[in-house]
Order: sequence, then structure tokens, then C-alpha cells
Amino acid sequence: YRIAVFASGSGSNFQAMLDTARAGQLGAQIALLVSDKPQSKAVERARAAGVPVFVFTPKEYESREAYERIILEELAKAKIDLIALAGYMRLLTSVLVEPYMGRMINIHPSLLPSFPGKDAAGQAVSHGVRVSGATVHFVDGGMDTGPIIAQRAVEVLPEDSAVELQLRIQEQERLLYPEVVSWFAAGRVKLDGRQVRLF
Ligand code: GRF
Repeated sequence: YRIAVFASGSGSNFQAMLDTARAGQLGAQIALLVSDKPQSKAVERARAAGVPVFVFTPKEYESREAYERIILEELAKAKIDLIALAGYMRLLTSVLVEPYMGRMINIHPSLLPSFPGKDAAGQAVSHGVRVSGATVHFVDGGMDTGPIIAQRAVEVLPEDSAVELQLRIQEQERLLYPEVVSWFAAGRVKLDGRQVRLF
């Protein structure tokens, strides 16, 4: 079972998957890292781990669809079964979303459908919620709108700043995301219309 991770930033979720794979607990091979940021820490982590990398510079293409068609070819070449977005900071078009419907997932640092989009931890702190968390969901082309697969709750402490909350949510993400990937590798997750079935 072969997965591709898409990341633009620090890649701590990507690293958690690499570590879980190395420990023999992912049940999947991380076969490709895709990044729109050649200088990112995520790319550095992939190179250090010997994971094949496809990096591209969006402004060198005339449209989102144009670079997504190239990515699609790379995914096919690498025989990718599942795409895991991990801090990939771009919306996807139907060029990628449609062929991978039911086989593309994302992780978001809130309990969706609360606080989609940027700065989810900051949104949680300013709304004064007592509980937030992390969500793994299917990607459907909207911004953090796809069917929900798994969630972890994280308590918001009275003195929390957005940064402190974000860090505690990310600790949970690094546990949750590799676990969900292992469910896919074991054939335990299916998307049926908008219904998520767990076996
Ligand atoms: C994570 O908090 C994830 O929920 C969000 O982007 C962040 C990525 O962090 N989608 P990292 O690059 O995995 O460290």
C-alpha cells in the first residue's frame, strides 16, 4: 500500500508517518512527498529519509490545473493508493480531487465543522471554546469540508494562547494521522457517497 504525502511547511505530520513506518506500524510505504515549497523543512525531511520528492513552483505554471496535471502523472508513476495532505497550503481543483475521491485525506487542527481554514487554533481561542482538537477527513474540493473519518479532542486551557493550543493539538495530530493511514492500508475505511464506513 503506497501513500503520497503533500506538505508545504514543517512536515511534522509527515515525520510522524515516517517514524511510524520505520517502526513497522504504518502498514504502508511512504512512496512520494509532493511539495510546492522547495525550501521547506518537509522536503528536507524527505531527502533525509530517502523518500522520493516531487517539488514544483506554482508560479512557473499558467494555472492550478496545469501543475495538478503534472502531479497526477507523478502519482500514477509512483502507483499511489492514498494521498495524505499534511499542511499542504493550497486548495485543490477537480483535476486531483475527482480521480482521488475516497483516496485523499487531510488533517485539520480543529473539531470540524468548527473553525475551517487558516489559524484554526486562533479561531478556537478567540471564540472561547473549552474543547478543540484535530480532524482527519476526506478531501472533497471545499475548504476542510469533506466527510469526517476521525477526531481527537484537546482541552482548551484558560490561559492558552493560539500558539500553545496549536502545539498541543499538533501532538495529538502526530498520533492520530499515522493511525488513520494504517486503517486505510488495512482496508478498514471506505467512502460510500458522503458516508464514511469504518470496518
Ligand atoms: C497541521 O497543524 C495540520 O493540521 C494543518 O497544517 C499543519 C501542518 O503542520 N493542516 P506540519 O507541517 O505537519 O508540521
